[in-house]
Amino acid sequence: MSYQFPDNFLWGGAIAANQVEGAYLTDGKGLSTSDLQPHGVLAEAVERHDGDSGIKDVAIDFYHRYPEDIALFAEMGFKCLRTSIAWTRIFPQGDEETPNEAGLAFYDRLFDEMSKYNIQPLVTLSHYEMPYGLVKKHGGWGNRRTIEFFERYARTVFQRYQHKVKYWLTFNEINMSLHAPFTGVGLPSDSSRQDIYQAIHHQLVASAKAVSACHEIIPDAKIGNMLLGGILYPLSCKPADVIETQQQNRDWLFFGDVQVRGYYPSYMNRFFKQRGITLHITDDDRQALKHTVDFISFSYYMSGCVTTDEELNQKARANILNMVPNPHLESSEWGWQIDPQGLRYLLNVLYDRYQKPLFIVENGLGAKDKIDSDGSINDDYRIKYLNDHLVQVGEAIEDGVEVLGYTCWGPIDLVSASKAEMSKRYGFIYVDRDDAGNGTLERKKKKSFYWYQSVIGSNGQTLK
Ligand code: BG6
Repeated sequence: MSYQFPDNFLWGGAIAANQVEGAYLTDGKGLSTSDLQPHGVLAEAVERHDGDSGIKDVAIDFYHRYPEDIALFAEMGFKCLRTSIAWTRIFPQGDEETPNEAGLAFYDRLFDEMSKYNIQPLVTLSHYEMPYGLVKKHGGWGNRRTIEFFERYARTVFQRYQHKVKYWLTFNEINMSLHAPFTGVGLPSDSSRQDIYQAIHHQLVASAKAVSACHEIIPDAKIGNMLLGGILYPLSCKPADVIETQQQNRDWLFFGDVQVRGYYPSYMNRFFKQRGITLHITDDDRQALKHTVDFISFSYYMSGCVTTDEELNQKARANILNMVPNPHLESSEWGWQIDPQGLRYLLNVLYDRYQKPLFIVENGLGAKDKIDSDGSINDDYRIKYLNDHLVQVGEAIEDGVEVLGYTCWGPIDLVSASKAEMSKRYGFIYVDRDDAGNGTLERKKKKSFYWYQSVIGSNGQTLK
């Protein structure tokens, strides 16, 4: 069967500033929370001292090599590139009155380079990082004043790039704060649920204020939210498992409900009450939340299962999201369960729930690549993973779901988020750098490069 992707479908790839740019203190950039996480977003943050270094300090040196990388993306036929702005390049400490011109100028150069090839930028305002200055001095998102600092930053970049960027996202995987509070909201990992949900509330308000500012400053732009699409299935058809699954899916759908509907869903009243959480929500907050997103974007890598069986749950505590493995699925080398049909299911769940356009802004396979003796990299496993997921996107489009585009994660190898590894590679383009930071940073096309080029060139007709 061949699939009918819309003519203006935004094919492309997704990267994030802290995982590609490097140049972590160049041109006036301040330290970000990510710069304090040399071992990844799930590890404890560490204070930096003179002489300390981390793999992300250089990353893949996109800050200096972006013209070469954009040219390669263009060669694959990209219509869109999702990237993020490092907030600390614009406001190095986060609470300055005026922005850092050198940081603003960098993104001008980057967007101009993309425009040469008609590649639409899709820009995330905050992808797993914020100014460390805001954490140290103001307590991160725990402090309501961070809303104001974020709004100033958002307005600054909307103003500056209003003619260059027409697709925006607010916070990357906003629901991830529940699992990684320092990464998401700048709070210590042992923070109470009360403090984390209050910080999340501030972030939801800030997200809505950014939506409003974007609509005011760039009326022809579209701005979306960004969710970790962590869809869960009941492990069995036992009604108790089904109810528990519904509850656990609401843990993350809650974020979308607020950002798309403009108010807290009623099921959260019971949730907060049972956990002794009381949020401070002002009238102004309630007004702000009414500014809802134009589309919903999400990442999708895997699905998981839910059970009420305590023994199985104990075993599952070891993995990233405490998900119980699905006995019907295979896993990647990193233990992420591969479930292409889950993507079709998730697209339908979100579209049924919100009836707003969807954008898949991350999906991909992290794997160890091997360079063959003739210099080639034959990443058939990656081609299979992506093909199978895109087929399911085609199915969802047939189902009637409105999908704006697909930007697969890491079209060029980059530093992984969870453990800051280079060896977990997602790219169509290989980067010569290892986990210890050795390598020339040279770029090389993998077999999947030509495969994706043909998928985009045929608007999905070569998928099978
Ligand atoms: C998403 C993040 O959670 O997953 C990305 O938005 C991240 O930043 C991606 O890189 C894949 O995770 P990892 O740990 O394999 O890099």
